[in-house]
Order: sequence, then structure tokens, then C-alpha cells
Amino acid sequence: MKEIVVSGIRSTGNLHLGNYFGALRNFIKMQHEHTCYFFIADYHSLTTHPDPAMLHVNVKNILSEYLAAGLDPDVATIFLQSDLPQIPELYLLLNMHVYVGELERTVSFKEKVRKQPDNVNAGLLTYPSLMAADILMHKATKVPVGKDQEQHLEMTRRFARRFNTIYGVDYFPEPDAYNFGSELVKIPGLDGSGKMGKSEGNCVYLIDDEKNLRKKVMRAVTDQGPTEPNSVKPEPIENLFTIMKVVSTPDTVDYFEEKYNTCQIRYGDMKKQLAEDILKVTLPIRNRILEIQKDDDYLRKVVKQGAEKARESASKVLSDVRQIMGFKSF
Ligand code: TRP
Repeated sequence: MKEIVVSGIRSTGNLHLGNYFGALRNFIKMQHEHTCYFFIADYHSLTTHPDPAMLHVNVKNILSEYLAAGLDPDVATIFLQSDLPQIPELYLLLNMHVYVGELERTVSFKEKVRKQPDNVNAGLLTYPSLMAADILMHKATKVPVGKDQEQHLEMTRRFARRFNTIYGVDYFPEPDAYNFGSELVKIPGLDGSGKMGKSEGNCVYLIDDEKNLRKKVMRAVTDQGPTEPNSVKPEPIENLFTIMKVVSTPDTVDYFEEKYNTCQIRYGDMKKQLAEDILKVTLPIRNRILEIQKDDDYLRKVVKQGAEKARESASKVLSDVRQIMGFKSF
């Protein structure tokens, strides 16, 4: 069945290999299978990073990276949240049926209160309402979310249900999580434990240049090497193999497995090979990012086209919602 998919993209931080082999490659595939709306959540970024000097730069960077990686503006609807005036309006309307108590109990809110006690703003409190507006704006049926966003999606479902109940309509569908299942590849970090993530500082970024990328891979955590044939790999070594299985050919992986199992492995050689194979993935993307970033005409065209497409469904939904809620013209 063809789904309506909505996904918001955080506007801070560069894309790393984990993002690429995680959600991003699924987005690229998904855009051909479903009706997809991908947008940069620039309003959301104001709840934590209100920085006028960086806002536009961040939006431009992340947009360039997604386009370079393969999101296609002629296939999916790619836009900026702040280009849709219907979003703040739906947000306002939804907020009339969102209770302060439930917002205060949200895990992400409580976390933010701890992290930024001097800036507990109403935008932070109503973050889930804004996200619900993003999703319900297009009557989405599926939303790809990571663990940290599950509660927000659950709240969106509740708000949709509540709206339908209060007004006695069957208007908003309750969106489900889009589950990538086995296709979601988890890329471990280079520091020997856990997954790749920007807060961990264990990343290679799509935008990394050759020299920097090689340096990072060469510095990845390893150990003294196995002393017993066929021994179980400790986590840092297993992690290198995990990345290699994603970026290298099966022959290359087999070659180093064999070296490991016979205690002849030289991690320097393995890392050198790994860096080359990562570069085969990232370098073409890096080059496209740099090209797109220079091409303001192209970016302007992309966001204009995206905003126009997104406004089509948004204005229809908003006008329905206003009518359902009782707004009428004289
Ligand atoms: N809150 C999401 C995140 O931090 C971003 C987001 C905003 C989003 N609006 C959305 C995701 C709507 C999915 C649907 O990653």
C-alpha cells in the first residue's frame, strides 16, 4: 500500500556514515515507493539553538547534504518547515487540545529542563505539538522515527485521536512508525564501543576530506591482536569488521577474517583498506555537497518547488480543520 510518509530532519550537525547507512539510505529508497514529505525542522531548532547567525548556514548545509546523498526533489517533496505558514497555524489550533500536564510529562522535555534550566521556553514544552502539526499537516500514515522520537509519535497519535473524538469526525489518520526492520544497518563508532553518533565524537562524516577521514580511521581503537587462532573478536575489532562488511567487498572481508583467525592480522593494513573503501562511498557525496553548496540558484529552486508542493496538501488540510472546528466566513 502506498503510504504518506512525513519525516522531519534536524537542522544541526553534519551527516555521518551512521546516518547514511541508517535512515538516509532508507529514505532514498522509500521516496520511490511512497508519497514522501521530507523537511528541515528549522522551527524546532529554535527551541534549543536560537542563533540567527547559524540558522541559515545550518539549514543550507543539511539540505545540501541530503540532496547530495540522494534525496530527489523531483520525486519526494523536500521543503523547509518555516516555508509552510500552515504549520504554525495548525500548531496553534492543535494546542487548544493539548494539555500542559501531558507536555510536562514528556521524557524529552524533562531532559531539556535538566540540560537548559535557564531556557525552559514554551516552544520546548510544546515541541510535541509542533511535531504533531508537521505530521498531521499532510495526514501522514507513516513516520520513520528513531527510539528517541517514539514518544513524540505516540503523542501525535493521541492528538489525532483526540481531535477526531472531540469533533466527532474521522479526519486524521493515526500515523504509525515506519519500521525499517532488518534494513536498518547500525554503524558502530571508531572508539571501540557503541554506535556512531556525533555526540560521541567517533564519527566519519560524509563531508570529511580524504586526509582527515584516513586519519580518523587509522586512529580507530584496536588491541594487541589475537594470540589464539579463531578467537572471539573483542568489541573494537568486531566493530571494524562490521563497518567493513558494509563498505567493502566480501572478498576483502574474507581476507581480513582469515588473517584474524590465523593471528596474522595487521590492523594498520586493515584500517588502510577500510579507509579506502569508506572513501569510495563518501567522496562522491562530499564532492556533490560542495557543488550544491555553491549553487544557490539550485537550492532556491529546490526549496521553492518543495514549498509549493507541500502547501498543496497543507492548505487543503488546514481549511478542513478550520471548518471542522467551526470557523466560517460570513
Ligand atoms: N523531532 C525530530 C528529531 O529530533 C524532528 C522532527 C520534527 C520530526 N518534526 C518531525 C520527525 C515530524 C518526524 C516527523 O529528530
